[in-house]
Amino acid sequence: MTFPAGVGMTTTMAPYIEQAQREGQLYIEQPYELYSEDNHEAWRRLYSRMVPKWEQYANEHFMRGIANLCLDPDRVPRLEDVNKFLCNLTGFRAKAVSGYVPAFQFFDCLRQRDFPTTITIRHQDKLDYLPEPDIFHDIAGHVPMHTDKAFADTLVRFGDCAHTAAEIAASIPDEEEKVRKLSSVIKAMARFFWFTIEFGLMKDRSTGGLRAYGSGLLSSYGELEHSLVSPLVQRYPVQLEWVINQYFEIDHYQPLLFVVDSFDHLFSLVDTLEAWMKDGRLDNVAPGEPEVGESDLKSFLHVGGA
Ligand SMILES: [Fe+2]
Repeated sequence: MTFPAGVGMTTTMAPYIEQAQREGQLYIEQPYELYSEDNHEAWRRLYSRMVPKWEQYANEHFMRGIANLCLDPDRVPRLEDVNKFLCNLTGFRAKAVSGYVPAFQFFDCLRQRDFPTTITIRHQDKLDYLPEPDIFHDIAGHVPMHTDKAFADTLVRFGDCAHTAAEIAASIPDEEEKVRKLSSVIKAMARFFWFTIEFGLMKDRSTGGLRAYGSGLLSSYGELEHSLVSPLVQRYPVQLEWVINQYFEIDHYQPLLFVVDSFDHLFSLVDTLEAWMKDGRLDNVAPGEPEVGESDLKSFLHVGGA
């Protein structure tokens, strides 16, 4: 089925995406001609109001990344154009997807330097709150960080961890025990990802203050400033044992955030995460959010017939 040009690629209202989902296609093309003028206007407004916030609160790697990607402030980006710049820098590519990517596949994509990217954009009337990712979150929030070598290498290490988790699960003969331990490991990985890649803060070398590098913060007009200045937010030096046991909720501003020193520091934490996984230290993390869904669990169990 073809759709008329400009029909719209608005979150939850995009016929192209609905069709792809019906047909079970996860990896898709970006049908650029389907974006409506309203979609471009949403991008323009989202982008222009973030610029002064980024200048004040985003970390230096993100600012360099935004400059290197040469995003058009007025039009929804073409992934093809983004990738021309991105791929040359770190080998990463934004890869269009039609919806949720189960956890193992998501991490495995990162390992291959592909970033599953949402291509719909939020409605102009809902610029502030969106429970699901959109192209602004993914391209303006995540992808600038992927231009940084140390950060890109960290994402690849996440992918290695997912493989390690699947291998460990495959070696557990008892089905119940396998599922219980794997659920705990996936929960630990999801918490780590949340408190670093999505909501991480970093020490700023030049001022000694803090800046954001987490994409959930960098794509949120309200929360970016809140995360760094509000007295309602607790900010602590990152501690792995805390992060993996700390639940989180996605429907309000985060009250607790963790600070890394650098991306080399972050990379070393992923190494430690994997070492702990091998030692069984992720097998019994504290209960609570996020719940590990069936599709995430299956995605790990199906690797190599585990
Ligand atoms: Fe995200």
